[in-house]
Amino acid sequence: MGARSCASDVGSGASGIGWDGMRRRFPSPTGSAETFVTSTEIIAAARRRLADDVWAYLVGGAETETTLARDRDAFDRIALRQRVLTGIETTDVAADAFGRRSRLPVILSSIGSLDQLHPDGIEGAAKAAEAFGVPIAVSSVLKDGLVRGARAAPSGIRWFQLYIDGDATWATAAADRAEAAGYQALVVTVDLPVMGLRERPPSPDLPRFERPDGRHRARLSWDDLGALVRRTPLPVVIKGITAAEDAARACEIGAAGIWVSTHGGRQLDQGLGALDCLPEVSASVDGRARIILDGGVRRGTDVIKAIALGADLVAIGRLYGFGLAAAGQFGVERILTLLEEEIRTTLVLLGVGCLAALGPHMLRAAHPAYPAQDPLHRAFPHLAVLLEQASATAAESGAITR
Ligand SMILES: Cc1cc2nc3c(=O)[nH]c(=O)nc-3n(C[C@H](O)[C@H](O)[C@H](O)COP(=O)(O)O)c2cc1C
Repeated sequence: MGARSCASDVGSGASGIGWDGMRRRFPSPTGSAETFVTSTEIIAAARRRLADDVWAYLVGGAETETTLARDRDAFDRIALRQRVLTGIETTDVAADAFGRRSRLPVILSSIGSLDQLHPDGIEGAAKAAEAFGVPIAVSSVLKDGLVRGARAAPSGIRWFQLYIDGDATWATAAADRAEAAGYQALVVTVDLPVMGLRERPPSPDLPRFERPDGRHRARLSWDDLGALVRRTPLPVVIKGITAAEDAARACEIGAAGIWVSTHGGRQLDQGLGALDCLPEVSASVDGRARIILDGGVRRGTDVIKAIALGADLVAIGRLYGFGLAAAGQFGVERILTLLEEEIRTTLVLLGVGCLAALGPHMLRAAHPAYPAQDPLHRAFPHLAVLLEQASATAAESGAITR
């Protein structure tokens, strides 16, 4: 894929970044003292707020967590190639989401345990997506999630994520309910025929938020999915594709979207990182469907790398989970605002006027800059300092911080 041109600039206005590049502190609408100038601050606040077992459930992956680490490694092994004196000073960062305009090429991915992260729960996440103007995929694991997501964000860009837990009649009825509730796409997750083995302490017995029905999920076939695609008027996105052959099958059965994902490293261990699977999937799809990617996306630069390698849209999971845990709806909106700043700033620094102009010619192979650290700290190198400061303050005051 080579460079594409920027046909028009339908960007969403000012970047919110000052000429000096400094990020501003915005007051929280709830009147709280927290303002969160960086995502690092949000993650540190999330860690303070969450109990140890919920934190472990959110950040952890399957078995050795090698796939989880590779989701991140895949981004850290790519460097951006800059061009200068291009005259670019504004950027168009809007994207198409099955006919709806998304302010960023970013989706809030399906998370089944949002209600455990903050009292705002799925309502907070859906409202943040609606207020900011990006899609949210509402997880079918959430109790009454379909109805709650629709009520919370009636005019938002909403997709419904489905695990197939029944026969063809069951699946069609679920798709019909999603359509009736105003969802604009159906996301069928196919990488969880059984639950991945998650061992992270303190509670290795934690599969309490996602409960697979092994019978239907493990027996699901391409024919079943094809039948569902034919029956529902909604565009169907297949989530959890990492191989070219599966991407081709998904296109053949009429999928409107292919979602490249390792389930955030929570299912198959010892796999490739999602971004490393993107080139083969993108070549196989060859424009027949929209491509979405998630797994390890923590920064605006990650979004740009994924789009340069062929993704149309990029989803975030844990990143907005941290936002929700830190400050509910406001925290998710802050994560999106910071991501937008990062994407806009990086595009201007790269000399790129719009997302369509991104391509592999802007990337080079590189060594990870922080090889000795775990993936979360590699994406947020100042997190350790904030966490140390927080525990020192807590120790001094004798306060219980979580
Ligand atoms: C706590 C948690 C719960 C999740 N629940 C679901 C779910 O219910 N359905 C689903 O399709 N994916 C689920 N996922 C996977 C995410 O949709 C997404 O693929 C993954 O989080 C992306 O990786 P990232 O967290 O590194 O961004 C979950 C992920 C996490 C971290």
